[in-house]
Amino acid sequence: MKKIYSFLLAMWCLVTYALAQETTPVPAIIPAPDVLQVGDGNFTLSAATRIAYDSDADREIAVFFQAYVREALQLDLPVQPNATGASVIHFASKKAGDITNPEGYELVVSPGGIALHGKGAGLFYAMQTLIQLLPSDAEAGLMVPAVTIRDAPRYAYRGLHLDVGRHMFPISFIKKYIDFIAAYKLNTFHWHLTDDQGWRIEIKKYPKLAEVAAFRDQTLIGRNRRPGMYDGARYGGFYTQEEAREVVAYAAARYVTVIPEIELPGHAQAALTAYPHLGCGENPGPYHVAQHWGVFEEVFCAGKEETFTFLEDVLDEVIAIFPSAYIHIGGDECPKDRWETCPYCQKRIKDEGLADEHELQSYVIHRIEKYVNSKGRRIIGWDEILEGGLAPDATVMSWRGEAGGIDAAKLGHDVIMTANSYGLYFDHKQGPDVNREPLNIGGLSTLQKVYSADPTPQALSAAEKKHIIGVQANVWTEYIETPNKVEFTIFPRLFALSEIAWTDPAKKNWQDFSTLRVPAHLARLDRTETVYRVPEVLGLQDTVIYASEHTFNQLRSSVAGGKIYYTIDNFDPSDTDLEYREAVKVVVPPGEERVFKATVIAPSGRRSNYVRAVIVNSKRPDMAMN
Ligand code: ACM
Ligand code: ZN
Repeated sequence: MKKIYSFLLAMWCLVTYALAQETTPVPAIIPAPDVLQVGDGNFTLSAATRIAYDSDADREIAVFFQAYVREALQLDLPVQPNATGASVIHFASKKAGDITNPEGYELVVSPGGIALHGKGAGLFYAMQTLIQLLPSDAEAGLMVPAVTIRDAPRYAYRGLHLDVGRHMFPISFIKKYIDFIAAYKLNTFHWHLTDDQGWRIEIKKYPKLAEVAAFRDQTLIGRNRRPGMYDGARYGGFYTQEEAREVVAYAAARYVTVIPEIELPGHAQAALTAYPHLGCGENPGPYHVAQHWGVFEEVFCAGKEETFTFLEDVLDEVIAIFPSAYIHIGGDECPKDRWETCPYCQKRIKDEGLADEHELQSYVIHRIEKYVNSKGRRIIGWDEILEGGLAPDATVMSWRGEAGGIDAAKLGHDVIMTANSYGLYFDHKQGPDVNREPLNIGGLSTLQKVYSADPTPQALSAAEKKHIIGVQANVWTEYIETPNKVEFTIFPRLFALSEIAWTDPAKKNWQDFSTLRVPAHLARLDRTETVYRVPEVLGLQDTVIYASEHTFNQLRSSVAGGKIYYTIDNFDPSDTDLEYREAVKVVVPPGEERVFKATVIAPSGRRSNYVRAVIVNSKRPDMAMN
């Protein structure tokens, strides 16, 4: 007989259950599902297991699962319609009748079989949960614990962004990135394709975008100081339309929508380098694709009709590549300096009866929105599009904190929260000490900060809250040059994003997440050679303790299977130092101090930053002698 437990109790039971039966891994699911019932026993995968499906659409997902099992567990299972009998894994859309959320699903694992109920995305997510329940390698035993899970997302929009303007990444990596998105039940890849430092999408009508705007002569190295140091190396590239279509199809097969972003009217320096006549004034330019980071005055002229012709032509080609309901048109960080002195822009302000340059920016966004709407699509813009009057149908991406999102929701506009104040700027450093983190843009976005965020502000009424359609994290790449560093940047924070995007806040639990589920998922990544930031040892923080002795106990590895090493001599711990296995007592003579440092080393050898506890015995030595 099965009993229904609350989610936490269920997780606790699964842990104790797993401890009792060491061959069964803990089902550490991220994002935490809505309802989880624990059953008795296990389903065992074997060569006799069959994968069954109801419809052709289910078959595609079943084949996806087949491929996963083949690669991860070296087990080749046949996929066939309507298989019956023992040991069947059934991808069943027919039984999804009472699941109301289009991304919702039910997953029932019992010793006799596995049933996945859902349609399309829902069935796909049932599969992703099942994959998380599987052992991550065949050596662990091929058992799946009996559970019943009913699940659906909190938000319809669950996004991850990637800036390929500052640094670009190969298509193979873009696909891997989409795999990460899909594995954690996000459904949108926001592809930031153009910026001052590079234009990355081929536009056939404007070949100089690929020939000129896609390349910069050199790049700033180190922190953004002026005068800076540059690498002297030409950098760039672009994605062909064919490659972009390949990405769209790859994503669609994983229920991920790709939203392209074409920045306007700011962040246009690369485009202007290729087509200088689109800048302000009579003889604009020359321009140079930017070589360092920041906000630049070189923006599209809002007075010239040629600007709109160009932007509409570009959007025509972009819309033909990307079938997404939304097209992101940027709208952020557009200095108005050039417009203030440009006769074309000033004439536009006069002719249109606009109050100032802010209303001119609004004019641009309204006009572009009308064009995008005429093609059957809708715009998303960064929260600056609120300034000077919001375009009628625009969805706002609130990035400078939550205020823009609150204002937009109150005006009845849909909002996607990407607030840097929520920790959703993944380019910000992951730990407080700048000297222990790799080069980054600054700011602080810890795992816990991301996890704590509630993307729907309490300041909104119930009706206004409905306008918060989702949440997204942004990965700006000024200081992220390589795919490895992108991975380091998103893991483990992607886990937290996944949970705030999917899970009912009442079901979130930091303790369970950070001490059980994150370590389990990091151990899986560790085996796939994915780069991630190893969180600091659990159970210890940088601190100063005034005492003559202190016992460090209950320290735990932040990666399942990892080890903790420590020193008491202020050297940085390594695997050549003492291993922490049980409580460690540090004794400090009067008038002295000891520096206890502990580091996690994962099975792969990847290591955390150390945590440092200074124990100070402030008693004077002579007093201690009594
Ligand atoms: C932004 O970070 N400029 C949207
Ligand atoms: Zn102008």
